[in-house]
Amino acid sequence: MAKINSRYQKVSQGYFSTEIAKRAKPFLDSHPGAEIYRLGIGNTTEAIVPSVIEGLRKGVEKLAKTETYTGYGDEQGDSRLREAISKWYAKRAVSVEPSAVFVSDGAKSDCANIPSIFSDDAVVAVSDPGYPVHREAAVISGKKVVSMECLEKNNFMPTMPERADLLYICSPNNPTGTVATRKQLESFVAYARKNKAIIIFDAAYSEYVSDQALPRSIYEIEGAKSCAIEIQSLSKAAGFTGVRLGWTIVPKELQTEDGAEGMLNRFWSRRQTTMFNGASNIAQEGGLAVLSPKGQRETHEQVAYYMENARIIREGLSAAKMTIHGGVDAPYIWLQCPRGLSSWEFFDELLTKAHVIATPGIVFGKGGEGYMRISAFGHREDVEKAVHSIRKNFGTIA
Ligand SMILES: Cc1ncc(COP(=O)(O)O)c(C=O)c1O
Repeated sequence: MAKINSRYQKVSQGYFSTEIAKRAKPFLDSHPGAEIYRLGIGNTTEAIVPSVIEGLRKGVEKLAKTETYTGYGDEQGDSRLREAISKWYAKRAVSVEPSAVFVSDGAKSDCANIPSIFSDDAVVAVSDPGYPVHREAAVISGKKVVSMECLEKNNFMPTMPERADLLYICSPNNPTGTVATRKQLESFVAYARKNKAIIIFDAAYSEYVSDQALPRSIYEIEGAKSCAIEIQSLSKAAGFTGVRLGWTIVPKELQTEDGAEGMLNRFWSRRQTTMFNGASNIAQEGGLAVLSPKGQRETHEQVAYYMENARIIREGLSAAKMTIHGGVDAPYIWLQCPRGLSSWEFFDELLTKAHVIATPGIVFGKGGEGYMRISAFGHREDVEKAVHSIRKNFGTIA
């Protein structure tokens, strides 16, 4: 008789966006004409930049001719793209061998699948609050999960766990919008090296860092290649949320308690060749365009557009006398709910008074209680309307 994987019952029934939609529904149903401003989801809204569209088009056109047609691609991803990724890191003074690069269909699946190359009894440390996939995938895979609190008293940086074998660190952070300093990452690398633990560094928002003093890759930290895997995505950097492309760096230098050098790289290769058939060749052609000089210029301009949204939100919320964090080198603003309200209480208040939908901090873990995540992804006009509505309905505009 078939039995279910009961670990699915240990995670919430739906992903958080489903929960938010359910909670907002009664208000939306009873106010059919109301204009609703959505600052909740981390989904990109602006058109892909011209040079990248050109790259994607080239990918499609290559498929139209027998001479240029390609089917299944190179095992770890198009070798031209892996070279380009290696060069992209080199421009940041980080050395990454193309053989350590595994092109993927985005960061979410890699974040979720990477624990499978580690022992079943590995203890996984995740941030609380944190990106839910890190915790939930580890729970579903049957690994023991411990929380690293990310609270204001600690500048929202994860507290070092007593014992962990794998540590998910996300910087710039979703949901708090904070960015780890070089010193903070150095202490995580020192911890990992001392304990032969592995950091899984989720760098999905690295392109939102404009402060040159802040690290954008874990490999900017000395010694990180022996203890860190880095997961990247073009979703937020280039609007590839629907196109789907990312990569994971698994250095051959990684050290574990029992495996020989290069083993984790080999295992990840084995895992991917068995359970994944590569990212779309069209998307990879688009990825090459993103990494070209023109693509970098245009995508960085788009990131600046979202960061201008973030500035408008930060200033608007501050003018409404709200306490906020983040949103300077990250597209998320972490808002402390006023008057000691819980996340869901303030969610209701924001929706009913200002018609704004934001994400309750509690969906990112119990450390997120009493906060809301406000996203800077949105059309400028909608962001401005949302901020105006908050200011008007929370008392700072007549
Ligand atoms: C921290 C973090 N990692 C990974 C992802 C997933 O990225 P992708 O679209 O590449 O799967 C997201 C998406 O919101 C994210 O916030």
